[in-house]
Amino acid sequence: MTREAAPAPELAAAAPATREFPFDREHFRIISERVYNFSGIRLPEAKREMVYARLARRLRSLGIASFDAYVRYLELEPAEWEHCTNALTTNVTSFFREEHHFRILAQHAQAHARGEGRAFRVWSAGCSTGEEPYTIAMCLAEAIGAAPFEVVATDLDTQVLATAREAVYPLASVAKLAPERQKAFFLRGTGRFEGRARVRRELAQRVEFGRVNLMDREWAVKGPFDAIFCRNVMIYFDKPTQARLIERFAALLAPHGLFFAGHAESLLDNGRYFRLKGQTVYELSKGAAGTLSPTLSQGRGRPS
Ligand SMILES: C[S@@+](CC[C@H](N)C(=O)[O-])C[C@H]1O[C@@H](n2cnc3c(N)ncnc32)[C@H](O)[C@@H]1O
Repeated sequence: MTREAAPAPELAAAAPATREFPFDREHFRIISERVYNFSGIRLPEAKREMVYARLARRLRSLGIASFDAYVRYLELEPAEWEHCTNALTTNVTSFFREEHHFRILAQHAQAHARGEGRAFRVWSAGCSTGEEPYTIAMCLAEAIGAAPFEVVATDLDTQVLATAREAVYPLASVAKLAPERQKAFFLRGTGRFEGRARVRRELAQRVEFGRVNLMDREWAVKGPFDAIFCRNVMIYFDKPTQARLIERFAALLAPHGLFFAGHAESLLDNGRYFRLKGQTVYELSKGAAGTLSPTLSQGRGRPS
């Protein structure tokens, strides 16, 4: 919701003649390598200007005079890597993004509600500012009403998680929803909340937020899940990282669970675990269901 995608590569490559802070290849190399090791996010050379623009803001707010000093500061203050990474994640999202996914989720939840006594469980991995998990909760509230369901929502970026927990959004983004949904799930702000809307408490409390870095060896989430959404996240990772994650996600899905990917992401290279069910929606392939141990969800990532 908050930050725009990086500019086109040809624009990104053109550095302005004079900069407020000198920023050379070596600064970029150190920062991009560390961000990759920590978060899995690849920052190719074409993103150099974006990295400069976002971190220059951070230097200003810290009162640091140069990137040499900032790189030293990062070494001395490991906690600064969190702010640095927060500044470099791409958090674009919206309510009911890729609406077709939610029609499939609704049918899946209805089938589950007819057959099983336990709660229907969904994980939104890389939930950004919360629009995705609140959409999942709206969809489930409409589809299975009073039946129990849980939505677990996680992200690496602590700043977007704070926004997600607050559950307050600009009216303009809520106004795109059908009027019945706006009424059922949001309260319109007044006074200092004028121009904004808050997710109603009854819905908000069905979503549990937490910080999970998908690169960590252990994830603080427990399966099985009936659906996992990891949309527009793996696109920033390289192929080996994607393959490792897909295997770990498969191990956390219930036998009939569904995996929802972003519009530009495909799991078909990993036909071993998933087969296509609908547009960018996958189910466990026959061989995989029941053979994956949940312990696969540990020990395959990079050390935290
Ligand atoms: C473009 S947003 C996608 C939001 C939402 N899933 C959607 O499709 O609308 C990508 C999110 O992935 C998160 N992310 C990036 N690297 C991550 C990692 N290693 N672990 C967890 N989340 C990560 C970012 O912080 C960001 O909020």
